[in-house]
Amino acid sequence: NWTASNFIEEQIAKIKEEVGDSHVICGLSGGVDSSVAAALVHEAIGDQLTCIFVDHGLLRKNEAEEVKQTFGQEFDMNLISVDAQQRFFAKLEGVDDPEEKRKIIGNEFIEVFDEEAGKLGDIEYLVQGTIYSDVIESGGTDDSATIKSHHNVGGLPEDMNLKLIEPLRNIFKDEVREVGEELGIPAEIVWRQPFPGPGLGIRVLGEVTPDKVTIVQEADAILREEIKKAGLNREIWQYFAALPPMRSVGVMGDERTYSYTIGIRAVKSKDAMTADWAKLPHELLEKISTRITNEVKEVNRVVYDITSKPPATIEWE
Ligand code: XMP
Repeated sequence: NWTASNFIEEQIAKIKEEVGDSHVICGLSGGVDSSVAAALVHEAIGDQLTCIFVDHGLLRKNEAEEVKQTFGQEFDMNLISVDAQQRFFAKLEGVDDPEEKRKIIGNEFIEVFDEEAGKLGDIEYLVQGTIYSDVIESGGTDDSATIKSHHNVGGLPEDMNLKLIEPLRNIFKDEVREVGEELGIPAEIVWRQPFPGPGLGIRVLGEVTPDKVTIVQEADAILREEIKKAGLNREIWQYFAALPPMRSVGVMGDERTYSYTIGIRAVKSKDAMTADWAKLPHELLEKISTRITNEVKEVNRVVYDITSKPPATIEWE
């Protein structure tokens, strides 16, 4: 019978044997799979592994710091963290089509990653956090993949000719989480909800600007805090704030306001192929709405998305 500690032991032996004294790179995104894969390979070969974290500025509030702290400091990995925010924002300027944004973010990510990897030289292997469901899905019938391009940021730099190490290829998500816990990765990362590769780039609807990303980060942080306080964070599949490209009229004191609306989305799902909107308690929604309109100054209205998938999708773009 399968246990995380046996799995880790086996994989460590296998990775050591395969890699010998070669050098290995890994793209770290802060997601569960790449984090666990990196920690496992690090456990096996230590400093022969270099991780590259591309900070595209589209992560949730504090997430970039958390990745750097956890893997750079606590795990003491060789971690190259690239602050590429300006580059991504420059490329996204004036672009409002969702698929176009996905392409730009994905391509820019690979470009930054390649540049950094190129500086290292002498690399033979690339670690990827592919898990069993990815293997099945790439076999072909993921409907949503044809609706949205779904490239995962962290894709393979194709022309580098690297051999792949995919230690999680044969295990399921819940097993990946067990392995992560066993390796000592913090619960915030191991239990992180699914997060799209293009990040907040597709939760700021329409053109992405640094100011709008900040608004969505602040609103989202409040939402996450309240859901966690209510003890609902593990039973809801995904919950997030989105920022539509519209303003509406409100009133504050005796002044008219003309500000943004935040859309709150929370869904229950098993595999993201279908999803039900989560029936959050009204008191919780009220608390979230009050806090967002009080604390995020550019927002004067909060709406809750009561659509399931289908006909909507989980993300708004
Ligand atoms: P939708 O919005 O199609 O999302 O119902 C289904 C699941 O996929 C995630 N998602 C993405 N993941 N790159 C990703 O890596 C993407 O471009 C992307 N778009 C959506 C979404 O968060 C949900 O978990």
